[in-house]
Amino acid sequence: MRIKGRVAVVTGASSGIGRATALAFAKKGAAVVLAARREEALEEVAGQCRARGGQALAVPTDVTDDEGVEELARRAAAEFGRIDVWINSAAVTAFGPFREMPLADFRRVVDVNLMGYVHGARAALPYLREQGEGVVVNVSSIAGVVAQPYTHAYGMTKSAIRMLSTSLRQELRLEGADGVHVCSVLPATIDTPLFQHAANYTGRKAQAMPPVYIPESVARAIVNLVRVPRREIVVGPGRGLVPLAKTAPGVTERIMRAQVDRFHLSRTETAPADSGNLHRPMPGTGSVHGGWHGRRRTAVRRVAAAVALGAVAAACLGRSRR
Ligand SMILES: NC(=O)c1ccc[n+]([C@@H]2O[C@H](COP(=O)([O-])OP(=O)(O)OC[C@H]3O[C@@H](n4cnc5c(N)ncnc54)[C@H](OP(=O)(O)O)[C@@H]3O)[C@@H](O)[C@H]2O)c1
Repeated sequence: MRIKGRVAVVTGASSGIGRATALAFAKKGAAVVLAARREEALEEVAGQCRARGGQALAVPTDVTDDEGVEELARRAAAEFGRIDVWINSAAVTAFGPFREMPLADFRRVVDVNLMGYVHGARAALPYLREQGEGVVVNVSSIAGVVAQPYTHAYGMTKSAIRMLSTSLRQELRLEGADGVHVCSVLPATIDTPLFQHAANYTGRKAQAMPPVYIPESVARAIVNLVRVPRREIVVGPGRGLVPLAKTAPGVTERIMRAQVDRFHLSRTETAPADSGNLHRPMPGTGSVHGGWHGRRRTAVRRVAAAVALGAVAAACLGRSRR
């Protein structure tokens, strides 16, 4: 699909990957419809999209409100005449020992991350089916394949999103809607404000687990995915963990539990128990980056990451044999 002149709806457009993706589509000449809860942030992104040459419409939306998401689709179609691309990126996360996580927070993660995507796909697909073409992009995570401790609800939703994409794809093919695609994107650790937004009941500050890459890499991958749809893509430095989780699940579990304990949760900085942005958005107009010093992907860094992963896996394997 050529991007210029297309209409793309992006949820989670006020921050991080969603924001970077909206800007990337606008730069390619698409009309973008921006959804998240923070109106002021969306208006700022809309202005940045227009400055890059795209048309933009901000529609404040809470993705847990199914009627609100249907209204988002209606507004997009009324303003621009069609919907070609729907990107589900709005999500929240929560860190905490299983029994210490308030159930209201656990449920909210499932509601936003999973039912929010369900609402998005239900709102978008009638337009795409009617046109006979279009792409739904569901932003999942490598955490949907490679489990980690203390983020049960997040990992569950990211795994379920992949299932949702697969099941929808099968249904569309049975219906003969061959021009309509549903794709999953699995980013590794990306430099966004997700970790500052997170609910946290661990007592330890949550931080991006290295290596960290820039959200623009994911945005570029999503643009390319819409051009040439594929079932599922993995983006970022931890991509080697996905095949490793299938071939050596025990080793991957050891790696991830050690990495999370060492790097995802600070050993020096504490954090008060807090529900983050789960039930209400953070103040301010948001940003693409989280200040975690994300790096660009290069061939050298890809090789270095693969070598480092190999070394960690070998060490874990050695330890599990002893
Ligand atoms: N950062 C990473 O390392 C990473 C890795 C793998 C996958 N991902 C995935 O990438 C996607 C984007 O995450 P991110 O890192 O960009 O996080 P982020 O910076 O925290 O952005 C999350 C977005 O979701 C919106 N949102 C939260 N609750 C919402 C609700 N109830 N209704 C509507 N919008 C809501 C937020 O805006 P408002 O607060 O204004 O509503 C924000 O725009 C998520 O699906 C995440 O799981 C991220």
